[in-house]
Amino acid sequence: MSSRYDAVYARSLEDPDGFWGEAAEDVHWYKRWDKVLDDSRKPFYRWFTGGVTNTCYNALDLHVENGRGDQPAIIYDSPVTGTIETFTYRALRDEVARFAGVLAANGVTKGDRVLIYMPMIPQTVVAMLACARIGAIHSVVFGGFAANELATRIDDAGPRIIVSASCGIEVDRVIAYMPLLERALEISRHQPEKCIIVQRDSLAAPMTPGRDLDWDEEMAKAEPADCVPVAATDPLYILYTSGTTGVPKGVVRDHGGHLVALKWSMKNVYGVDPGEVYWAASDVGWVVGHSYIVYAPLIHGCTSILYEGKPVGTPDPGAFWRVISQHRVAAMFTAPTAFRAIKREDPNAEYIKKYDLSCFRTLFLAGERCDSDTVQWAERHLGVPVIDHWWQTETGWAIGANCVGLGALPVKHGSSTKAVPGYRVLAVDDQARELPRGQIGPLVIKLPLPPGCLPTLWNDDQGYIDSYLSDYPGHYKTADAGFEDEDGYLWIMSRTDDIINVAGHRLSTGAMEEVLAAHADVAECAVIGVADSLKGQLPLGFLVLNAGVERDHGEIVAEVVKMVRERIGPVAAFKTATVVKRLPKTRSGKILRATMQKIADGESYRAPATIDDPAILPEIGEALERLGYPKAASA
Ligand code: COA
Ligand code: AMP
Repeated sequence: MSSRYDAVYARSLEDPDGFWGEAAEDVHWYKRWDKVLDDSRKPFYRWFTGGVTNTCYNALDLHVENGRGDQPAIIYDSPVTGTIETFTYRALRDEVARFAGVLAANGVTKGDRVLIYMPMIPQTVVAMLACARIGAIHSVVFGGFAANELATRIDDAGPRIIVSASCGIEVDRVIAYMPLLERALEISRHQPEKCIIVQRDSLAAPMTPGRDLDWDEEMAKAEPADCVPVAATDPLYILYTSGTTGVPKGVVRDHGGHLVALKWSMKNVYGVDPGEVYWAASDVGWVVGHSYIVYAPLIHGCTSILYEGKPVGTPDPGAFWRVISQHRVAAMFTAPTAFRAIKREDPNAEYIKKYDLSCFRTLFLAGERCDSDTVQWAERHLGVPVIDHWWQTETGWAIGANCVGLGALPVKHGSSTKAVPGYRVLAVDDQARELPRGQIGPLVIKLPLPPGCLPTLWNDDQGYIDSYLSDYPGHYKTADAGFEDEDGYLWIMSRTDDIINVAGHRLSTGAMEEVLAAHADVAECAVIGVADSLKGQLPLGFLVLNAGVERDHGEIVAEVVKMVRERIGPVAAFKTATVVKRLPKTRSGKILRATMQKIADGESYRAPATIDDPAILPEIGEALERLGYPKAASA
């Protein structure tokens, strides 16, 4: 089949009003929009102003009314608890309406925030959709973050209610959530009025009378609440993501643009039809989970898999194939790191042979740069197209992809194919001038961003401008660097800031440096991301100690490792640091992290002309060799 991509892409940029106006016909509106693209307050673009809708209605009630009531909406598959539970659209709507009633009975109204700190259980999805139902704004915090990170988010979002659970389960370890929540509430200035706690069978959480309510007890006495019409431009959720400092950015998502973009993406990017089974093996705490476990599949009338498990170890590297085969999954989305984990344990893909995967059509990968080896391994053993696509928490859906629904384009390994309709992506110089094809540079997106992308940061319009719009006026800065090749394919090579990608999780090395710097014996520090064959990147810390510190270096390293785990969370996977005499810097005092990274990765490196003292670089190399890193050569 020849691809319709070129024509569709061209139209999306030439006539955004017509293009997105047509796409918007596919969702339900209580009142149609006055304007498709509202550019009256540049650079704050708004989509579908004047429109009135409800995301939960589109995700649930509409399907029940249109005859999908008995179709599974969510299949909760939890190898860690040995549970498989199916919720039809009707059952999920009823649960959601009831929990919306619980929220309403506890004073939550339109515009209030509800913070959700939950594992991968159905109640998490119910809580998110219940917020959407009554126009409350949810903010989901990933379970692998520590109390300190949770507290920062509580203070910024100011939730009226926190919804949490007694525990999460990491393979075979029960992780108690309540101590983390208690600690976060000790640190945070803002206090919620109530906490609603799901008591899981694996662990009973101690409850604080007057503050904590039991999920089941509240549900038993609640009256269901109906959908509340909201403006297309009202916020649906806030999702915090790592910025260049320790303070996370509150990415805001609106109702209308998000509905339209996600609905459009299911058919056109992923090639999936209503009624089919779609699986994003991620976590609801990340943007992939928001968009493609919860909202998009439900808005499109698909069945979505909610998987509480890992690619390996729950119980074996055949876990993904078991789920695909058992639930007849048509398309799956995960991070390359998950495939690297499977490939490492089952290099010859013996487990794939045990399952009937005839239902499976396409594998989508995103979240980090995907190495060709992994893509080719997946292609060879699964026999389906493997599509690498590029996106960010901020955009909420793909910026670059091979839009299989428009007719797949030839795959180039290592490229995320072409810009998705709606996005004009450019590699530019520092004056925002487009670079010749093939030349690497910062990647920007010409404004306006398409529907679904962040309209601003929570309570921080100026931060939105400063972080994304001011460096390249008229453009959104992705903070990724890459290039467009002679065929218009996008190659995403690296970040231009201090963000690293650890097992597909986005983390700030700046935030880790803030933690290390707080250690009493540390005078100066740097954290870099070094290449790792499983997780893509791993953080590595360098410590310069205060003069006169005579303590054992191993002890100090163990202490900072513990501090990062306690303050940021286990998800940071910060396990290695080394003490050095000095850090390499430019004459103006900037730490040469990129050069240190090259040395750690064993690449040949060149001392920059601006370096203050080139003799420090070999010292760094020696420290790394002592840790077992390969020897790097000076070019
Ligand atoms: N709650 C509490 N702790 C959590 C957690 C959660 N929701 N998620 C992760 N952690 C912990 C892990 O238990 C681990 O702790 P440890 O240091 O005590 O072992 C640590 O955080 C790091 O977790 P993770 O990055 O998941 O590494 P892992 O070694 O446990 O597993 C993979 C490695 C590759 C199997 C795993 O990262 C994976 O499945 N990745 C898929 C990628 C993905 O979902 N990306 C999301 C974007 S698409
Ligand atoms: P997150 O906000 O957690 O989704 O992380 C977004 C970042 O992950 C992007 O800015 C990229 O650096 C990286 N990323 C996501 N998808 C890809 C991809 N397909 N190829 C390369 N990098 C990617």
